[in-house]
Amino acid sequence: MPRRLSLSLIFVSILSVGLHASSIDPFAVNDGMIPPKSAYDGPLFPFHYNYPEGKEEPVSMPWQKVLGGKPLTPENAQAYILALKAYVATKGMKTFLMEPEKWNTGPQTGWYSMLWAGEAVEATDWEGREAIYGTYTGQIMAKAVYADYGLTVDIRNHAAIYYDDVAARTLGRVWKGCDPKTGQCVPRVSKGEAQFDEGAIVVKSAGVTATPEQWPVLEGAAKWQIYRKPFDLNGTIEKAQPQVTDIRVGIFDIIVKDSVAAPETGWVFATLVYDKDAPGKDAWDRMVPLGAMWGNDPEVNSAKNPKMPLQENYINPKAPAYAKVTLGYGERLSGPFDIAVKYNVEVDGKIVPALRSSSCLSCHGTASYIPGKSSMTTFFYPAKDHSGQPWVMYTPGSKEWNAWFQNRWGDEPQSSEKEAIALDYSTFLEAVLMNYAAASGEKSSDPKRFLKWKAYRTFHAH
Ligand code: HEC
Repeated sequence: MPRRLSLSLIFVSILSVGLHASSIDPFAVNDGMIPPKSAYDGPLFPFHYNYPEGKEEPVSMPWQKVLGGKPLTPENAQAYILALKAYVATKGMKTFLMEPEKWNTGPQTGWYSMLWAGEAVEATDWEGREAIYGTYTGQIMAKAVYADYGLTVDIRNHAAIYYDDVAARTLGRVWKGCDPKTGQCVPRVSKGEAQFDEGAIVVKSAGVTATPEQWPVLEGAAKWQIYRKPFDLNGTIEKAQPQVTDIRVGIFDIIVKDSVAAPETGWVFATLVYDKDAPGKDAWDRMVPLGAMWGNDPEVNSAKNPKMPLQENYINPKAPAYAKVTLGYGERLSGPFDIAVKYNVEVDGKIVPALRSSSCLSCHGTASYIPGKSSMTTFFYPAKDHSGQPWVMYTPGSKEWNAWFQNRWGDEPQSSEKEAIALDYSTFLEAVLMNYAAASGEKSSDPKRFLKWKAYRTFHAH
């Protein structure tokens, strides 16, 4: 007994040395770059991490009405997405989309943000949370991607992510040991803490740096302001000064843990996109369903049978054309800024100019973590080798490729590594766990590990 005690004391002191040695504050509200009053004098993003505690309790899930107690189908998916949209509107999401200053000064009742995401973390290439609207930097897309749809400049997307009170219970369990007074914030994931409760909702909404003049599809879209450094096709221009930048909101993702709708995976991933020609009085009304997916359709080998219809996926035939350029493998759902299409990759020894390689669920389904071990366990894409250019992909439709397009419950990792802990489709949690790992020095025995993780994340820039 005494021996055990002293071991755990040693462990605690190693951990706290690690934490104190690092200058990264898990509770940081933003990346520390605050706009001068002369450039922006409105309210800044407030950080809510007083996550609700409590066990899983049944919650009301009014959007389930359209299901009639049965799993989702492509036939009722449109109604389901609209029911979800109506539900989050009752929880303040319309204000979040259209009235940034009001959202920032209001209580943001029932919505929460992530720990270990505020400050930039050099080792993992994490750029931190931006100060004005709490956004995270996202993918950069060359204007060529949307050349047929009027885009005239390269764009970058910036996303804000919020957890509702049910989803935040999971954050409460994972970050239960965190104390802002001591700065200690060690995650708990080994006992299923990262699994989400039924009814959990996470929203992610993203805007891009193009103006409606530079990209007419954005005419009349909601406008946010952010404070970030400029970018070019290689990424953030580090030596430049941050600037107050307007972004126009093009997507609004809603994901929900609903095992009636999605009995194979537990999750429905839905996306709304901006359609300037949609009827409605404001930008919220003009956010229309692009689609939803609630499984990866493992039975449908889209490479071999491209015409075979998907059963666990729905694409709105009336969605604006620009939003469909970037659909994923076999036209599985992916949003306009999600990079499901990879350009100039190698397949069977040949260069393919554009390959639909991913989808919401296949990418998010890789989310996992191995405490005390190096790096991420499964890459986002079905790539054999992504260490250089071009990426070498598995043959679409092969057994290896298909590993990304299986249906799994959120506690079952895709990796066969024994210690891998599945993170219930939360790639965001995976990213901040890597920030924690980098900051705590917990895994410092392997200095190369973050190089690999950084390489994993370079998909952002291409
Ligand atoms: C190629 C990978 C990829 C694809 C495809 C993708 N995402 Fe994500 N998504 C991520 C990553 C990575 C993050 C974490 C934020 C970050 O690292 O910038 C994320 C974050 C999110 C979040 C925030 C919470 C969380 O669970 O991580 C939501 C919600 C989300 N994505 C929804 C969607 C939806 C809906 C789709 C499809 C329309 C989609 N994503 C497609 C990689 C992807």
